[in-house]
Amino acid sequence: MADTAFLELDGKRYEFPLVKGSEGEVGIDIKTLRAQTGAVTLDPGFKNTGSCQSAITFLDGEKGELRYRGYAIDELAEKASFLEVAYLLIFGVFPTSEQMQKFESAIKKEAVLDPNLVRIIDSFPSSAHPMGVLSSATSALIAFNPSSVNVSSEEDMYRAIVRIMGKFPIMVAHAQRKMTNQPYVQVDTSLNYIENFAAMMFKTQGKEYTQNAIITDALNKLLILHADHEQNCSTSTVRVVGSSHAGLYASISAGISALWGPLHGGANQAVLEMLEAIEKDGGDTKKYMAKAKDKNDPFRLMGFGHRVYKNFDPRAKIIKLTADQVLADLGVHDPILDVAKGLEREALEDNYFVERKLYPNVDFYSGIIYRAMGIPVEMFTVLFALGRIPGWVAQWREMRLNNEPIGRPRQIYTGETLRSLDR
Ligand code: SDX
Repeated sequence: MADTAFLELDGKRYEFPLVKGSEGEVGIDIKTLRAQTGAVTLDPGFKNTGSCQSAITFLDGEKGELRYRGYAIDELAEKASFLEVAYLLIFGVFPTSEQMQKFESAIKKEAVLDPNLVRIIDSFPSSAHPMGVLSSATSALIAFNPSSVNVSSEEDMYRAIVRIMGKFPIMVAHAQRKMTNQPYVQVDTSLNYIENFAAMMFKTQGKEYTQNAIITDALNKLLILHADHEQNCSTSTVRVVGSSHAGLYASISAGISALWGPLHGGANQAVLEMLEAIEKDGGDTKKYMAKAKDKNDPFRLMGFGHRVYKNFDPRAKIIKLTADQVLADLGVHDPILDVAKGLEREALEDNYFVERKLYPNVDFYSGIIYRAMGIPVEMFTVLFALGRIPGWVAQWREMRLNNEPIGRPRQIYTGETLRSLDR
C-alpha cells in the first residue's frame, strides 16, 4: 500500500500521509486538511474517525477479537487476576510478583475513605441512582486529594492511580449498602482485592462473611472483561476531559456519567429490565423483536449490536458461559436466562439482525450473573465502571504522557447567516 492518500477538491489535488498501526490498520493523517483545503471532515458519532494512536487495547470488530497490550481477552480472563490486568493495562507490562506485591500493598494502603467523603455518599437518598452517586463521589475525591496529578512525576501519578484503585471499590460497596439500607462494611485488608470487595458488598450485618469462590471467580472474570475497550464513548470522554488538563479524578467522573447512558454501559441494566418485561409478557420474544425492528418504535434490543463488533463480542461469549456455570454452581434457576437465550437464538436467525450484523454484546448476559449474586439492577452499570477504572486510567495516562492536544472538534454551521436586530 502507498504511503499517502490523495484528495481532489475544486479541481485541486491534495496529498495526505498514511499512518499504519501494528495490526495493519490504516489511518489518513488529515492534521493539515483545513489549512490546505479550507474544508473539514464531517463524521457524526466518529464512526470513521480515529481520535488517537494507542498501544493499550486492540480489537478486531470483524473477527470478534479483543486484546489488552497484546494478550487475548480469553487468556487473561482465565489465567490472570483483575489487579494483574489493571497493572498490565496501565503500565504496559504484565507485573512481576514483586511489582504486583508493591501495587497491591499500595492499593491496600489507600483502601480507606475520608469520613467526610463517606458523609457525602451517605447524604444521598437511598433512591438515588448509584451511577450518579459514584460520579459525584469520584469528583469529590478531588476535594480530599487536592494535589492535581503532575504527570511528569511517575511517583505522583502512581500515587493517584493506586488511590482511585483503592477507594473506588469502597465507594461502590457503600453506594450499594446505602441503596439497600444496610450498614457499611469496613475494609478487610487481610483479604485480596476481589474478596474484600465481595465482603463489603454481600456481608450480612452481625454475621461472619464466608467467601464463595464461585462469586469471587466470576467477579474477577467480569471485571477483567470490562477493563478496557479502546476508544468507546466513556473512554473518549475521559480522554477529552483529561485533554484540557483536568485531573484524573475529574476525567473519570465524566467517564462514569458517559457510561451511564443506556446505549453504552447503562445497557446492562436496560437488558435486565427488557428481559423481565418479556418474561412478564409471557416470554413473547416475537413481540419485542418486532418492536426492535419497527423504525417508528424507539425500542431497541438492548444488549445487541455494537459500533465496532460486526461479529460476536468475544466478551459476550465468555460471559454467557460464565452465566451458565455460576447459576448452576449457585443452584439458581433463573427463567430470565432462558428468555435471553431464546431471544439470542431468534435474533441470530432473523434477517434484520443478520443483515445489520447485530450480535449480543458485553451487556447482554452480564446482568444475569449480577442478579444471581443478588446485586440490585441499578448497580449493574456501577460494576461495569469498577471494571473500567484501569482502562480509563491507562487511556488518560497515555493521552497525558503523549502530550495529546486539547480535544476540540470542528463543525459545519447550518444556522442563520448574519442578520441585525433592526432596532
Ligand atoms: C457498550 O463502543 C464500545 O466499545 C462500548 C462497549 C465498551 O466496552 O465500552 O462495548 C460497551 O456500550 C456495548 C453496547 C451497549 N449498548 C446496547 O446494547 C444498546 C443497544 N445497541 C444499540 O443502541 C446500538 O447497537 C449501539 C449504540 C451499540 C451501536 O449503535 P451504532 O453503531 O450507532 O449503530 P446504529 O445505531 O447506526 O445501527 C445500525 C443499524 C440501524 O438500523 P438501520 O438505520 O440501518 O435500518 O442497526 C440498527 C439501527 O436501528 N440497530 C438496532 C440495534 N442496534 C443497531 N436495531 C435494534 N436493536 C438494536 N440493539
